[in-house]
Amino acid sequence: VSEREDESGEHADPAGRERDTTPAESSEPPVPGEDTPSGETPSEAKQASEEVTEDQGASDAGPAEAQAGSAEAGGQPGPEQGLDPHAPVQVLGIAEAGVPDDLREQIEEIISRYPQRRSAAIPALFAIQQRYGWCTPDGIRQAAAVMEVTPAYLESVASFYDLFHLEPAGRHRVLVCTNISCWMRGADELLDAVCEAAGADRHGAGHGGVVNDAGDIFVGGFECLGACDIAPMVSADERYFGPIEIDDAPRLIEQLRKGEDVLPDKAIARRRLAGGPEGDPDPRVAEAEPS
Ligand code: FES
Repeated sequence: VSEREDESGEHADPAGRERDTTPAESSEPPVPGEDTPSGETPSEAKQASEEVTEDQGASDAGPAEAQAGSAEAGGQPGPEQGLDPHAPVQVLGIAEAGVPDDLREQIEEIISRYPQRRSAAIPALFAIQQRYGWCTPDGIRQAAAVMEVTPAYLESVASFYDLFHLEPAGRHRVLVCTNISCWMRGADELLDAVCEAAGADRHGAGHGGVVNDAGDIFVGGFECLGACDIAPMVSADERYFGPIEIDDAPRLIEQLRKGEDVLPDKAIARRRLAGGPEGDPDPRVAEAEPS
């Protein structure tokens, strides 16, 4: 996550409030002959700008004083107060967000790994997605409360990465790599087979991914998952498997649904690391070697 800091060393508000400027605050004069965003002429825009400046006189006293003034007048806070660009950023409390104890402990442990709390955004969102199946609004509010950031900050991060889901996305995620190495070894046909086994729409799977008809499995094509040496390969619930045969697809889906060990003979997690202890020879390599 790229983080920005302002001149004072404070992180910029991810909601972009620090960039909000009223016409009166803008140091750039209207360009003669250039249309304003609202379609006003420059002179009309200047007049409107001066009116805004006068109207803002009362609010220059600050949000707290403005609120006190509202209370003195007997008025209730109106919905327009939520649009005040000078209003303090609202950070939810733990109790207010209803954070389960175990989730709070999990996210606090994640935060402890970083020098700044907001740097834990991605793993905290991942914890939310693992717990609820997708980044639910309530889950984002809970993570934000523990991290002491706004829900908008976490939502902006989640919406940037396509491995985070902001809508229901089933209990399991199967991504089939369709990039060049996997494609040359039959990835399109493999995606066909996975869609058929899961009951997912093939067109949707090839265009950003889709939740299957049963609502339990998200299937999507993906452009290079970075494991080209085991092409064609899939990622199932964030674990890599390959090389996958067409006939493996029904077994993969069935094992996911049953919560079984998925394709244990093709799990990259079970391959020994380069330079690691000597393991049993890969039977596929042994079969291919001339006797
Ligand atoms: S092309 Fe499939 S993992 Fe790289």
